[in-house]
Amino acid sequence: MSEAFRPHVGVILGSGLGAVAEAVEDPQIIGYEQLAGFPRPTVQGHAGQVIQGTIAGVPVAMLQGRAHLYEGGPIDELRAPVRWLKAAGAEILIQTNAAGSLQPDVGPGRLMAITDHINLTGTNVLIGPNDDSIGPRFPSMGKAYDPALLTELRIAAAELEIPLAEGVYAGWSGPAFETAAEIRAIRILGGDAVGMSTVHETTVARHCGLRVAAISAITNLAEGMGEIPLSHEQTLADAARGAEHLVRLLPAFIARMGSS
Ligand code: HPA
Repeated sequence: MSEAFRPHVGVILGSGLGAVAEAVEDPQIIGYEQLAGFPRPTVQGHAGQVIQGTIAGVPVAMLQGRAHLYEGGPIDELRAPVRWLKAAGAEILIQTNAAGSLQPDVGPGRLMAITDHINLTGTNVLIGPNDDSIGPRFPSMGKAYDPALLTELRIAAAELEIPLAEGVYAGWSGPAFETAAEIRAIRILGGDAVGMSTVHETTVARHCGLRVAAISAITNLAEGMGEIPLSHEQTLADAARGAEHLVRLLPAFIARMGSS
């Protein structure tokens, strides 16, 4: 039963990436409405359910749908799912997201392993009273994306011959996409991809001691770099292309961490 289920790995699936959950064996589904503090996703492409089961024998809980800062809901909706995973026994959080690329040679359909992030959203998800039983007041964000997990991810991608770019993810609040000038600024700051999620969940995860890995499915070249106007519809369509790679890569990656 779900009470006894103890995931080793938690996975947060981003916009249009729900198909990845089809890899879960013996799935049990829990609707977010049954889980305290979880968001009721409002964005098309986010289902709002946890899928528990195994992948290559590793117990996993996949979160299909996440809250975003731009939805304007309580900030606790960004914290609750990650802390629920930790409380359920998870040790590792894998995040996926849809993102725009600032690297001209890493275009739509490609995957990028996140090596670090820049939080440009203008807020920090841990602002407010700190619960010392969850984590420290001033958590370190050094090595926020676990180097050992990144190594495993690289190996899994190489074995499957899936090209995997690497880079720094810039977190943007949205809901408006960036201007071309903002993209130029993000490039100067060191961003390789930009999106509207992930940085807050990583912060919550590091605070409570989860190891984090994250993969962006590139859906477009960032504003000012490509010909196609940016839209959520186009993001979903191109996320589906990235999902085809992720459907193969994630199980192989998870299989490698059975004992890690
Ligand atoms: N910017 C921000 N978020 C995104 C983008 C983008 O270009 N593409 C997909 N999510």
